[in-house]
Amino acid sequence: MCGIVGCLGFKNPREYVLNGLKTLDYRGYDSAGVAYYNDGIRIYKDVGAVEHLMELVPQDIKTDIMIGHTRWATHGVPNVANTHPHISKHKKICLVHNGVIENYEDVKKFLIGKHYDFYGDTDSEIVANLIEHYYLSENDILDALKKCMFVLKGSYALAIICNDYPDEMFVMKNGSPLVIGKGDGFNFVASDASPMIKYTDAFIELNDQEYGRITKTNVDIYDANGVKVTKKLIKKDIESISHDLKGYPHYMLKEIEEIPQTIKRLLETYVKDGKYTFDESLLNKLRESDHIMFIACGTSYHSSLVGGRYFEHYGKSTSKYIASEWAFDPVFPGNKPFIILISQSGETADLIHCLKIIKEHNLKNLIITNTGGSTLDRNCMYSLLLHSGVEVSVASTKAYVAQVTLLAMLAASLSKDTKLIDDLTDSLDVIYDIQDHYKPLIMKVADEIKDKKNLFYLGRSFDYFLSLEASLKLKEISYIHSEAIPGGELKHGPIALIEKGIPVIVFITDPETAPSMRGNIEEVKSRGAKVYTIATKSLSRPEDTIMVEDYAYYLSSVAVSSIAFYLAYYVALAKGLNVDKPRNLAKSVTVE
Ligand code: F6R
Repeated sequence: MCGIVGCLGFKNPREYVLNGLKTLDYRGYDSAGVAYYNDGIRIYKDVGAVEHLMELVPQDIKTDIMIGHTRWATHGVPNVANTHPHISKHKKICLVHNGVIENYEDVKKFLIGKHYDFYGDTDSEIVANLIEHYYLSENDILDALKKCMFVLKGSYALAIICNDYPDEMFVMKNGSPLVIGKGDGFNFVASDASPMIKYTDAFIELNDQEYGRITKTNVDIYDANGVKVTKKLIKKDIESISHDLKGYPHYMLKEIEEIPQTIKRLLETYVKDGKYTFDESLLNKLRESDHIMFIACGTSYHSSLVGGRYFEHYGKSTSKYIASEWAFDPVFPGNKPFIILISQSGETADLIHCLKIIKEHNLKNLIITNTGGSTLDRNCMYSLLLHSGVEVSVASTKAYVAQVTLLAMLAASLSKDTKLIDDLTDSLDVIYDIQDHYKPLIMKVADEIKDKKNLFYLGRSFDYFLSLEASLKLKEISYIHSEAIPGGELKHGPIALIEKGIPVIVFITDPETAPSMRGNIEEVKSRGAKVYTIATKSLSRPEDTIMVEDYAYYLSSVAVSSIAFYLAYYVALAKGLNVDKPRNLAKSVTVE
């Protein structure tokens, strides 16, 4: 993963680079660093998030050129040696890297043969030395980059400074995203446009296998054969990427509370005068296909389980795949499959890998993403945006609800079924009611379960899909081991794990499955479990923990997911954990 930034000729490089890194720390926050030129290359770096780096980097830096990096560790533990920027042995080349070099061991052996040695364990340090090696032998930095591009296998977005060219920055890209921002007398680079939008709306997007040279006023880009390519200047109207906490203590809380706004925005965007406004050609492709495949990861995969069920309801056959699994054994059910990819970030490497395969097979595809201009948004045949606003907290909340909402609308639009619009509108009251009245109760439950080691969520049908997401959210930010089990599966194995005092959280919101869920509750209670129930009022019993207003049962992931999100949030808070940046994770998973 990792985020990279760089600038040339900008009046306050420290401000751009450090704030830019903060904007990009959704890509990783194990360690961070910067490098700049002032009578030689200077580097500041350390383990920890960008806030810590801000304390280390002097206020009064005088430089025209600066690069920076925020890291999610792949090769090598998060220590100072492995923190970017990396400098080559003879101090000619200094770079920041996002990606993974697959043949780094071969390259390392090659460089050892050339008397290179290494201070850390990263593949990125090897790239710095390889560039230096070719630069010293070719005597031309651009030729050196071209040669490296030929040798290196894997993914990379690189921003490079060279001791001999204090007024120039070099870039190279394959697989990982890299965008150049054009200013008046200054230029930027970054992993995505978000750090730059404050200063420019004109961008150049690099394609794979391109490299180039950037000065204050010029950008020259070359393809893998060394031929200069004409790049289009893209004017981006990116949704305002606000990192303002708006008075909330954490982004996760803010984002949970933005859920109603997110649903409303989707209704405004994709419904006009009571009718869906999806592109007819997209709807026709979906109608013509005999099978709809969903591919996604993590939370987005969970939303595909719900969304897939909606399409099935309208007569479509579907299958749902975890991207990293499908990519290694791609199957194509049906004669005319249509593929829906789902990704909040639009940058998830596993999914980008899948898209490559999908394109090789010439299959129709759609991305549902929150990130306009992202790799998947740009490269898929159709794209539908979630319009949720930036999601900063690593744990996805509002984007999950947005994904489910949009999938429901898309499925319903195939049959022009507009009842969904009323059901979605009604679910808003349920969510507001949860926000207004249930937080103290959820905090009490959080306090009771915070010291538990294991926990189960139970549900059936749509409540099971919600349980999967509830369970993922809890484990990723509270570090409590949690599993979601379909009620009917308990007796086929998992019930062996039920013991005295283990918390079991049960969703009962579907009239069809409620009686069986009540049976499941008795089964786990009689084995000592401490049961917490979340039920809709018409299905509730006096002993239930939380009773919410009734809603169309198939919308449980929309209407009551907030309860699960609050619970995970308050448990993490009660444990004193870093809610927005849980350990070992990053917001955008840009490595496979
Ligand atoms: C969990 C979470 C992750 C992401 C997953 C896919 O809260 O956020 O599981 O859902 O990494 O990310 P996207 O949706 O950006 O492809």
